[in-house]
Amino acid sequence: MAKRILYASSEVYPLIKTGGLADVSGSLPRALQSAGHEVRVVMPAYGDVIGKLKQAYPVGRFDAGGTEVELIETMLPGSDVLTWLVGNKEAFGRSGNPYMSGDGNPWPDNAERFHLFDRAVAELAQGRAGPSWKPDLVHCNDWQTGLVPALLSLESNRPATVFTIHNLAYQGLFDYDTFQKLDLPNVFWHHETLEYYGQMSFLKGGIVYADQLTTVSPGYAEEIQTAEFGCGVDGLLANRSESLTGIVNGIDTSEWNPARDQHLVQTYSKLNLERKLVNKTELCKDFGLPVDTGMPLIGMVGRLVSQKGIDLVLDILDRIVAIPAQMVILGSGESKFENRLREKVKNHSDRISIYIGYDEALAHRIEAGADMFLMPSRFEPCGLNQMYSLRYGTIPIVHAVGGLADTVVTATPENIQSGQATGIAFYEPDADELYAAIRHAVALYKNQAIWKQMQLTAMRQDFSWAGSAAEYSKLYYKAMDDAVMEVG
Ligand code: ADP
Ligand code: GLC
Repeated sequence: MAKRILYASSEVYPLIKTGGLADVSGSLPRALQSAGHEVRVVMPAYGDVIGKLKQAYPVGRFDAGGTEVELIETMLPGSDVLTWLVGNKEAFGRSGNPYMSGDGNPWPDNAERFHLFDRAVAELAQGRAGPSWKPDLVHCNDWQTGLVPALLSLESNRPATVFTIHNLAYQGLFDYDTFQKLDLPNVFWHHETLEYYGQMSFLKGGIVYADQLTTVSPGYAEEIQTAEFGCGVDGLLANRSESLTGIVNGIDTSEWNPARDQHLVQTYSKLNLERKLVNKTELCKDFGLPVDTGMPLIGMVGRLVSQKGIDLVLDILDRIVAIPAQMVILGSGESKFENRLREKVKNHSDRISIYIGYDEALAHRIEAGADMFLMPSRFEPCGLNQMYSLRYGTIPIVHAVGGLADTVVTATPENIQSGQATGIAFYEPDADELYAAIRHAVALYKNQAIWKQMQLTAMRQDFSWAGSAAEYSKLYYKAMDDAVMEVG
C-alpha cells in the first residue's frame, strides 16, 4: 500500500554532503518512491545548496515555533523526488559545512538552527505549513532531526514516526540554558525524555518518542544495546529493543558503477577486470607515486577521526611501506591526524601519498585504482566505502564491527574454498592486528587465482537499495500501527 512519506535529513547528496548520511538521504527516498510511495524530502536551505539549484520555487512562508521560515520547492537532482528546503537566512544562509565553522568547531547556534528545522518539519508533518499535503509517516535521521518525534508526540492527530540512527556518537547535547532558550515544554526536561545527565539531548527526542527506531546494520543494532558501543544510551535502546531494527544501507549503483563511472580514465567490469589496472597506474600518477603495478596499492578514504581508526594506520605506516606496499589516503578531519599524516609522508614519498581535503571524483578513482581498501574503524554503523570497494573489485580490509562485519565475508580457508570470501577482517581494533590483516591480504594478492576469485565474488554482491527499501516499507506499516495505537 503506497504511503505518503516525509523524509527529513540535515544533508542530502548531491545537494550537500559531509558523510554517508547524505548518500543514504539522496538514494533511499528515490528507492522508496520507486517502490510506490509518495516521498517528499525536507532539509535546511543552506547557503551553498541554494546557490547550486537550477530550479527552485518559493512556495510559502509559515511560523515554526515563533520564527518565520520560507519553504522552497525543488526536485532532488537526477530524480523525480520533490524536495523542500526550509529557509531562514540567519539560521541556514551561511555557506560552508552545515555543522561546523571553518575552525572545525560546531556553529555556536546549532541548537537553535536544528530546533528551528525540527519545528518546521513538525509543522509540515501536521499539514500546517502551506502545501496541502500531510504525510502518513515522518522518517527522521540522526540528532539533527531528533526533536521532530518529540514535538509530534504533543499532537493529537499526528503521522507515525521512524527515527534512524546513523551514528550514535553524535547526540546533539546542549546545556540547560540553551534548553530554556528554545522554549520547549517542561515535560521534555526529565531523564525519561530529553534530559541526559544535566544536558539536553536532541538524540533522545528520537529514541524516546519515535514509534519505530532503526539503525543502519543489524550488527550495529545489537552493538548499541551494549555498554561498549552504546555511548551512554545503551540501556534506553535495550528497553526499546522490540522497536529497534537494523537495516543495512544500500548504495547508489548508478553513481558507483565501475562500468560507467565518469570519474575513471578506464571503466571496467567483471568481464574485463584486467582494465582495472589502468586505473591503478593513473591513480599513482594522480598522487605523484612511482608506478609499480606489481606492488600492492592500498587505498583509504574517509573522515580523519578516531572512529575510522586512522591512528592505527598511522602507527604502522612504516611497517606497511616496508612490506613493500604503496598507499594513498584521501580525507579530512581532526588536525592532529592531518598533521601526523603530513609528517609521515615526508619520510616515504615514494610509497605513501595523501590528499587532505574532500574530493568526490578522487574518491571514485581510489575505489577503482587501489588493490585493497582499508577500513579499520573502531565502530561502524554501516559504512559505505567497503560496499563501493566490493563493487569495484577492490578488496576491503576491515575491523569486523557493525556494518563492516555484516557486509564483508572474510577470507578464511573455508570461505576461500567455497568461493564466498570477499575481504579480510580482523577482530580487535589494534595496530598489530591490522598489520597482520594487511600481511594476509598481501599474501592472497600474490596468489592471482585466489585474488581474482575474491574480486569477482565481491563484484557480484548485490547492494542495491531495492531490498533495503522493501524492509523500510514493512517497518513503516509497523510504525503506523504503533502510532494508531498510541493516539487512539
Ligand atoms: P561516514 O558517514 O561515517 O563518514 P560512510 O562510509 O558511511 O562513513 O560514508 C562516507 C562517505 O563520504 C562515502 O561516500 C565516502 O566516499 C565519502 N567521503 C568521506 N571522506 C571523503 C573525502 N575526503 N573525499 C571524498 N569523499 C569522502
Ligand atoms: C554514519 C556512519 C556510517 C554510515 C552512515 C550512513 O555516518 O558513521 O557507518 O554508513 O552514517 O548510514
